[in-house]
Amino acid sequence: MAGNPETALPRRVEATDASIDEAAALLAAGRLVGMPTETVYGLACDALNAEAAAAVFASKDRPSFDPLIVHVASEADAWALVDDGPAIARQLSDAFWPGPLTLVLPKPADIPGIVTAGLDTVGVRVPAHPIARRLIAKLGERIGRPGAIAAPSANPFGGVSPTWAEHVRVPCDLVLDGGPCSTGVESTVVRSMDDGTVAILRLGGVSVEALAGVVGEANVRLVGGEHDDASAAAGLASPGTTLQHYAPRTAMRLLPNRHALPDALPNSSERCGVLGVQLEQFGLRDAKAIEDLSPAGDLTQAAAALFAAMHRLDAADLDVILAVPVPEVGLGRAINDRLRRASR
Ligand code: TXA
Ligand code: MG
Repeated sequence: MAGNPETALPRRVEATDASIDEAAALLAAGRLVGMPTETVYGLACDALNAEAAAAVFASKDRPSFDPLIVHVASEADAWALVDDGPAIARQLSDAFWPGPLTLVLPKPADIPGIVTAGLDTVGVRVPAHPIARRLIAKLGERIGRPGAIAAPSANPFGGVSPTWAEHVRVPCDLVLDGGPCSTGVESTVVRSMDDGTVAILRLGGVSVEALAGVVGEANVRLVGGEHDDASAAAGLASPGTTLQHYAPRTAMRLLPNRHALPDALPNSSERCGVLGVQLEQFGLRDAKAIEDLSPAGDLTQAAAALFAAMHRLDAADLDVILAVPVPEVGLGRAINDRLRRASR
C-alpha cells in the first residue's frame, strides 16, 4: 500500500472521469481510496470485501469494535441491500437522502461482520456528493451488482476529520480531490425504534430540528454520551462516539460559555489560539492564532469551516487552543459536540 504516514503522503489527484474510474478499479481490487463526501472525506473500500475492510481498520488504527458506515448510490439501492426496517426509517430516508443522515438498520448477510464490528445492524447512508455517488456507481459496474462502499472518516482514529483532500494522510492508494466538504461535520447517526421514536446516536449534519420537523419533536431523543448508561445497556450507544475524539494534538480547552473568554486568555508566555464564532467583539490581542468560523454567527458556515480550522490551529505550534461554544441550536449542537470531544 502506498504511503507510510511517517514518510509519504498518499497520491492525491483531482476527481475526473478518468481518476474516478481508476479509483473504482482500485476499490474493486480490494484497495483503499480517499473519497470526498458532503460531510467529510471518507477512507473507502468495497463494503462486500472483508479483507479490504480489515485494511481500513489498519490504516486508521481504528479499534475493531467500531463499525463502518456503508454508502450506497441511491435510496432504492439502500432498500434493496437492507430489505426491511421500521416504517419511520423510510420516512427519514425519503426526507434526507441523499444527504448527511446515517440510518442504523438490520444487517444483511452479505455485508461482512468486520464492517459492522460484529453488530446485527449496519449504518447506511446515501451521500449527496456527486463524486462519491459516481464512484459508488462505477464500483457497481465493475463488480456487477449495486456498489456499496464502507467508509469511515479518513483520519487516524481519534483525530480531526478531513474536510479537504490535503487533510487525508492515512495510508491509501489514491485520494480523489473534490475540494472542500460543504457540510463539514459528519452525518447524523440515528436508529429508528419499533415504538416510532428516533434515537440520535451521533449529532451531525442533519439537525435535531430537521429530524423533529419530519417525525415530530416528541419522537426524537438524543441517546448515548458519557452519562447515558441506560441507553448503552440497551445497546443504543454508537460504539464510535468515545469521549475523546476529533482531537487535535495540541491541548484544547472548551470554555463554559462565551463570556469566559477574556479571563481565559492566558498570560503572554503561553502561545494561545482561539476557535469560535463572532470573535471580533473580543479584541483578542493576546491570541497567537484566531479562527473565527463565522464572523456573522452563521452555524452552517461555521460547521463547514470547523475541522479545517482545527487542522490549521494544530499546525500553528500553539500551547493551548481555547474553544468557545456556539449557540446550542441547529448545526451548533454538532459543533459543540465535536468541541467537547476534542477537549481535555
Ligand atoms: O459523514 C459521515 O458519516 C462520514 C462520511 C465519510 O460518510 N463517515 C463517518 O464515519 O463519520 P466514522 O466511521 O468516522 O463514524 C461512524 C459512526 C461511528 O460513531 C460508529 O460507531 C457509528 O457511526 N456506527 C456505524 N455503524 C453503526 C451501527 N451499526 N450501530 C451504531 N453505530 C454505528
Ligand atoms: Mg470518524
